[in-house]
Amino acid sequence: MKIALNGFGTVGKAFAQILQEKAQTLRQDYHLDIQIVAIHTRTRGTLYNPNGLDIKTVLTRNDYHDLPDATQEAFLSLITHDEIDAVVDVTPTDLQTGQPGLDVCRQALSAGKHAVLASKGALAVAFQELQSKAEQTRSHLLYEATVMAGTPAIRLAKQALAGCAITEARGILNGTTNYILTQMESGMTYADALKQAQQLGYAEPDPSGDVEGWDAAAKILILSAAIFGLELTLSDLDVTGITQITPEDIAAAQAAGERYKLIASITCDGGSVRPMRLPLTDPLANVNGATNAITYRTDLMGDITLIGAGAGPRQTGFALLSDLIDIHRRG
Ligand code: HSE
Repeated sequence: MKIALNGFGTVGKAFAQILQEKAQTLRQDYHLDIQIVAIHTRTRGTLYNPNGLDIKTVLTRNDYHDLPDATQEAFLSLITHDEIDAVVDVTPTDLQTGQPGLDVCRQALSAGKHAVLASKGALAVAFQELQSKAEQTRSHLLYEATVMAGTPAIRLAKQALAGCAITEARGILNGTTNYILTQMESGMTYADALKQAQQLGYAEPDPSGDVEGWDAAAKILILSAAIFGLELTLSDLDVTGITQITPEDIAAAQAAGERYKLIASITCDGGSVRPMRLPLTDPLANVNGATNAITYRTDLMGDITLIGAGAGPRQTGFALLSDLIDIHRRG
């Protein structure tokens, strides 16, 4: 399988590293050979080799100016090349415009290439359009990385629970804010905890989207479209982040045997993201650090809760790999 990578930041590099580490296992156990043939960056150039780039060498470079034309337009043309099977988008997300991932995803699906996304913007603004395009061209649009990194929140709902009606999804869907709230409980300042979350690769390049609740809200949009078939926009959601929560609020909750968590929830009637004080007996109260959790309420199985990493370059890189394996298995 030959893929083109849009973006090469922490997630893109972690993904490339995982492909290198797992190459033999993928070949032996899954009969799958994944080659990166193109890497496009916004400011650091574009690499292209139709026979596959040498990832080990690429990972040692900081500059990717191999092609004379490194514009997004040139990359949009490049991804239509015959040898490319799938396009993987790991660009920073703009939740208002969906760009730059949206144009790349549109182009890939129109050309019959599979699209695998870690960026949330394109799906948050144009889920139905992209899904229809994929159906028209018989390509696959997969996005496990967009919700709870490599913890299979999407696959659980769409595949393992197929046949159950899901009536509600509720959980902790942002790693950065959960990490900050956990660290603040141990006495760390908000600013220091945010800085650590950035250093650990949990936060978005602009972390205001995390702390103001918009990242979790985008995940709610993706889940609502994927599970409930709803066409919502960010303005349809009731969103509050954690920026107003003070150390005193946290101490007061602790004294009452409770914990603040940023809870995202969605039903077929709409969704919200807001900080809530949960009793310690609530399973979500005990999900700490960058770990995330989601509970699906179903008709046949009751509540099913999935807990696992919600952010992190390698965890997100794994999600991309899991989608490519899924595409390979679908044939
Ligand atoms: N910034 C996101 C988070 C990354 O903290 O959860 C994973 O989507």
